Amino acid sequence: MATIGSDISIAKEFLIKGELVGIPTETVYGLAGNALNEKSVLSIFETKNRPAFDPLIIHTDSVEKIGLYVSEFSEKARALATNFWPGPLTLLLPKKQIIPDLVTSGLDTVAVRVPNHPILSELLRQLDFPLAAPSANPFGYISPTNASHVQAQLGEKILYILDGGECEVGLESTIVGFEDEKVIVYRLGGLEISEIERVVGEVEVMPNSSSNPKAPGMLKSHYAPRKPLFLEKRETIETRQNQTSGYLLFDQYINNVDRENQRVLSPSGDLREAAHHLFAYLRELDSLPIDNIYAEFAPATGLGLAINDRLQRASVPGSAH
Ligand code: TXA
Ligand code: MG
Repeated sequence: MATIGSDISIAKEFLIKGELVGIPTETVYGLAGNALNEKSVLSIFETKNRPAFDPLIIHTDSVEKIGLYVSEFSEKARALATNFWPGPLTLLLPKKQIIPDLVTSGLDTVAVRVPNHPILSELLRQLDFPLAAPSANPFGYISPTNASHVQAQLGEKILYILDGGECEVGLESTIVGFEDEKVIVYRLGGLEISEIERVVGEVEVMPNSSSNPKAPGMLKSHYAPRKPLFLEKRETIETRQNQTSGYLLFDQYINNVDRENQRVLSPSGDLREAAHHLFAYLRELDSLPIDNIYAEFAPATGLGLAINDRLQRASVPGSAH
């Protein structure tokens, strides 16, 4: 089992030696290694069972340091960075040679982000290399939002998990790339589209799928529990009451089903709170003695779009089934 602790210097020592460490971020926990060390990067792919065609995000603590790793930082990219870093935003920018091809799966852009988490920021400040960090879940399974989620799934394979409490946002970062003058959102996430559009004007949203070479990791089946998950409208779910199913609901319980088997994402209907609870509640339902899970859509606005995106991917039978 990994040790769970909040000692930055222990995490730092492991990372300098090339070992992997579980790290907290404001979005989800990451499985981190030295992004400039090919051996560390390779062991990230192995530890997660992640296919080599699915590139990694690198994390550092300042916009200035990003300049060491990217060869171009356009005006729009800079405007987004200035407005939203540190925060749940990842930018795809042309990479410098210092970034191993393994990190980017051979693409000529690298995904970069400055996360917003006090303990992680301090760790990153003390390192003279960026951290490559995918979400700390086995490939295809639900992303972890606290240290014990990481322990439960990767604890046998790593030595240390840096504990930074529960992830505040609870959804992965929004991924944004650039093509000529266009700004393209490749993954819906913790930063809302409207916020991005406020800074750079209208964006194109293309959060799809394995056929999209720009975001090879956006596979259709992802974030999935082991139990089959059916995503349905509220009215339909209300007709499916039975005691051998779990229910993931937006703001209200349903009648005639044991509440033990139900989770309500936000009783007040707050999308932020719903996003914060989403993955943890999915995990809880997945561990109950039930046969399947019914989930209802969140309102299709703001963070609700990202929540529905995750539920949609979780509902497709895939590698985790
Ligand atoms: O919030 C987050 O972004 C979390 C935390 C740990 O920072 N990380 C995360 O990483 O979600 P991961 O590896 O689970 O998802 C990264 C996504 C994948 O879909 C991958 O395909 C895409 O980013 N990606 C990475 N580099 C890319 C590139 N150069 N071009 C297109 N997509 C890229
Ligand atoms: Mg992931």
